[in-house]
Amino acid sequence: MRVIAVASGKGGVGRTTLVANLGLALAKMGKETIIIDACFTTPDLALLFKLEKAIYTINDAIVGETVFDNVLYTGPMGVKIAPAAVTLQQIKRTRPEQLPEIMKNLAVKADFVLIDTSGGLRRETVAALRSSSETLLVTTPDMVAVSDCMKTRLVAEFLGSRPIGFVLNRVRGEEFELDKDEIKEIMNVPLLGTVPEDDAVMKALKEGVPLMVSSPKSSAYSAITNLARKLLRT
Ligand SMILES: Nc1ncnc2c1ncn2[C@@H]1O[C@H](COP(=O)(O)OP(=O)(O)OP(=O)(O)O)[C@@H](O)[C@H]1O
Ligand SMILES: [Mg+2]
Repeated sequence: MRVIAVASGKGGVGRTTLVANLGLALAKMGKETIIIDACFTTPDLALLFKLEKAIYTINDAIVGETVFDNVLYTGPMGVKIAPAAVTLQQIKRTRPEQLPEIMKNLAVKADFVLIDTSGGLRRETVAALRSSSETLLVTTPDMVAVSDCMKTRLVAEFLGSRPIGFVLNRVRGEEFELDKDEIKEIMNVPLLGTVPEDDAVMKALKEGVPLMVSSPKSSAYSAITNLARKLLRT
């Protein structure tokens, strides 16, 4: 079982979108896949799967009120989703530091577990990195995001989660974007995929149907499928 944290540094670069759709791409390839929302203060994964009213959340497992199996919901292509609670009351009582312990004792088996992390390097990000053995980094092609992402790579390494590579998201091919080779040099890990800026991503969000289900002809769909293939070989 590969437990991979999807992390960035800077917020808003596309981690949640990637966790959801990469999870679906892997599931479509026949891999048992679990996706977990460990972005406890601003959880978004549930919204992408219309699970915001889920009875049990990963928070309940963390506070010991239910077992991990109960917080898994089956989504499209059989992907299993562990949403995080959205109410302030639930968020306040959740101690992210407990996550590594829960992940260590997982009774459920899967080929892949993808963990959505929060931006920055706060307690919940550290907990998610500690819970994983590999980190997949995400950045957009600009200096701010890349330099924050590079710091996260260092922290992941320090916490024992191997940075396996990075994904360049929201690429428009504009002249003002940072050059790919320059980004590779700064990141110092392999580039595993390039996902273009694609309106289909926002359309999917509006429709409440994940991109990998709603837009099989989109360029982001192809890019994420390629990324999933690459991940299988990494
Ligand atoms: N390839 C893309 N093309 C177009 N829009 C995208 C793409 N990837 C992500 N987005 C959009 O960018 C916004 C941020 O994406 P997302 O929520 O996945 O980022 P995040 O890193 O998880 O953010 P947060 O820090 O808030 O958790 C969303 O509105 C999403 O739909
Ligand atoms: Mg997010």
